[in-house]
Amino acid sequence: MKIVFFGDIHGNIEALKAAYDAVALQNPDKIYHLGDLGGYAPFVNEVVDFLIKHGIEGVQGNYDEAVANDREHCGCKAEDPLQEEMAHRSFAWTKAHVSATSKAYMKNLPTEIKFTSEGKKVWLFHATPKKYNLYWYEDRPEKFFHEMAEKGDADVMIYGHIHKPYRKDINGKVFINAGSVGKPKDGDPRACAAVVDIEPDAVKTEFLRVPYDVEKVAVEISKSGLPDYFAEKLRHGA
Ligand SMILES: [Fe+2]
Repeated sequence: MKIVFFGDIHGNIEALKAAYDAVALQNPDKIYHLGDLGGYAPFVNEVVDFLIKHGIEGVQGNYDEAVANDREHCGCKAEDPLQEEMAHRSFAWTKAHVSATSKAYMKNLPTEIKFTSEGKKVWLFHATPKKYNLYWYEDRPEKFFHEMAEKGDADVMIYGHIHKPYRKDINGKVFINAGSVGKPKDGDPRACAAVVDIEPDAVKTEFLRVPYDVEKVAVEISKSGLPDYFAEKLRHGA
């Protein structure tokens, strides 16, 4: 069973379309998204419409929850005052431009999805099993991975939120961060999609990097009234 995961699309319709076309060539059995559909780029409604049109199910991210419920804060962590200010402007922009359809869609997303494939229990969530705004980086101590795995009985856990893809295998359990379609932060501006092949005796992972017109989206970010800061971040995969 070949399953594709789109993490953190963040209002980037060009990246989503390119990723979708690229993974279609691999004939996946199913495609899921991992939440955080708006913010940082202006095409939040186009992204939601695309997901609905193509029947792509997914889970709710912290950004989706915050936008859908008109929260004061997106639940994102800022490392300095500039980042905090920029995050706030992006969040305010997104709340002002999101459609009623998009909001309802985000509000109704489940926080987790569980299914069994080839005898393996698969568990999807945005960031971690219990908190959707905790940053589960690859270099967290193994103890952290154990603690998260203990919150469920899954064999394969797939999530996003940090915008940096990785896979770790610990004690027979597979941990996959799908990276980000629309706002990679690993220095590679290309869209990232995780292609996971679940076989009876193996789980194979490919992080597909898909080129698209990054500059076109960067220009649209600046034109939309979102800070240029996010156009620059997009250009550099930062
Ligand atoms: Fe995100």
